[in-house]
Amino acid sequence: MRDMVEPAASGGEVPAHLAVIMDGNGRWANARSLPRQAGHRAGVKAARNLVEACGDAGVRTLTLFAFSSENWDRPRHEVAFLIELFGRALERELKRLHDNGIRLRFVGDLDRFPDGLRHRISEAERLTAENDRMRLNIAVGYGGRWDILQAARRLAASVETGELSAADIDSECFAGALSLGDMPEPDLFIRTGGERRISNFLLWNLAYTELYFCDTLWPDFDATELATALRWYAGRDRRFGRAEDDESVGATDDVDQVAGRHA
Ligand code: IPE
Ligand code: IPE
Ligand code: MG
Repeated sequence: MRDMVEPAASGGEVPAHLAVIMDGNGRWANARSLPRQAGHRAGVKAARNLVEACGDAGVRTLTLFAFSSENWDRPRHEVAFLIELFGRALERELKRLHDNGIRLRFVGDLDRFPDGLRHRISEAERLTAENDRMRLNIAVGYGGRWDILQAARRLAASVETGELSAADIDSECFAGALSLGDMPEPDLFIRTGGERRISNFLLWNLAYTELYFCDTLWPDFDATELATALRWYAGRDRRFGRAEDDESVGATDDVDQVAGRHA
């Protein structure tokens, strides 16, 4: 990874937080008459390249959707392959990630994963906990609804013990209980693979994220494709529901006059 470009503030040229649905591995493999597994292997390479390209671009936080809560419903052999691949990729990439100053976090319901993998996950988080060059969040066994439910359950438990009163649960407090509650919300979301949907990714967090969809299948998504998405993002006008001052409306105009003028 080259030296990081100084990142822009949120809403500036470079998204501070990028969230990605890496979709299309199976179709990539099908198009080459290969088994889906080959697509997933190629997908891991694309993910590795993306981490590097994001570091070069100055993205400070990258969240990758690797395995959804619904992906458990895929055929058993595909689920087993994905879990195995995930474990191997973690083992192979960890040193490089650590050497590059990347802090890892895994978000999702990890209870269904094998003990060995869960152990490796917490070791990786512990090893990289002090790194501050870039944050890499991997969503595995993750669902946006699960995340909202686990936050609600945790807050309800704090109310039960009297640590918190129900009236204190405002938007900030609730957001803080989500898996990525200590990070800024994603500025840019990318989904590859042609589908225009969120598929139960970060439901709360994407409220004001810029959404970018492209047809490129995930294994083909490279630094050039990322640059295209970042250029698109840089051209967005993020309003967050607000409006610019309209100078054609005088300060003394009242609401009825303005409404009449536009009737
Ligand atoms: C994304 O690729 C990887 C995971 C969901 C694990 P897919 O496996 O969904 O590939 P397509 O969408 O079937 O092509
Ligand atoms: C979303 O892709 C999940 C991941 C990329 C991990 P899916 O392929 O599972 O989503 P759907 O089925 O097209 O909605
Ligand atoms: Mg898919």
